[in-house]
Amino acid sequence: MDLLTGLTIVSSLILLSLATGAWSAAPWVPTRQRDWAAINQLLDLQPGQIFYEIGCGHGHLLAYLARKNPDSRLIGLEISPLLALAAAWKTRRQANVTIRWANLWHYRLDDADAVYVFLLPKIYPQLIKKFKSQLSPATKIVIGDWPLAGYQPQRKLRPVGSVPYYLYRASDL
Ligand SMILES: C[S@@+](CC[C@H](N)C(=O)[O-])C[C@H]1O[C@@H](n2cnc3c(N)ncnc32)[C@H](O)[C@@H]1O
Repeated sequence: MDLLTGLTIVSSLILLSLATGAWSAAPWVPTRQRDWAAINQLLDLQPGQIFYEIGCGHGHLLAYLARKNPDSRLIGLEISPLLALAAAWKTRRQANVTIRWANLWHYRLDDADAVYVFLLPKIYPQLIKKFKSQLSPATKIVIGDWPLAGYQPQRKLRPVGSVPYYLYRASDL
């Protein structure tokens, strides 16, 4: 194999890995750093609570939330192997973080006290079914950018110059 073929194969594998999510629930588009504080505020995690970031990308938001909530347990689910690796590396020194290379549709969320999703609205109907069957009524659901149509959020924050973030409880669904 020559160098060019090798490089082509490696770059194709990288692109394929990064694009995995686009075929499932959303391509990788990180939440803006200036919005992280608003998400943390909506989540309002308490000591001992379990939080899932569903589709955690490269884990930068998760690392921030873990720093802000040292006594909570934070789990990042990510379908792309490369992004899951990047998230594991980013959070490697944070004992309260676990990264799972997993497909959200095959991962149960029964123990979640709070979840954050920034995924495409086309998957919301399926996501709502999953939330209704797996989340306990008090579980907080924070959603980035697009609201759950037909459901009333308990709170909404819109950082200046950014997109809105919505807080629901599973019991609202
Ligand atoms: C819009 S990005 C959001 C990334 C991160 N949550 C953030 O806010 O910075 C969506 C992420 O979800 C991941 N994803 C897409 N489908 C998924 C699935 N079925 N299971 C787990 N992760 C998935 C993508 O790979 C991507 O990293």
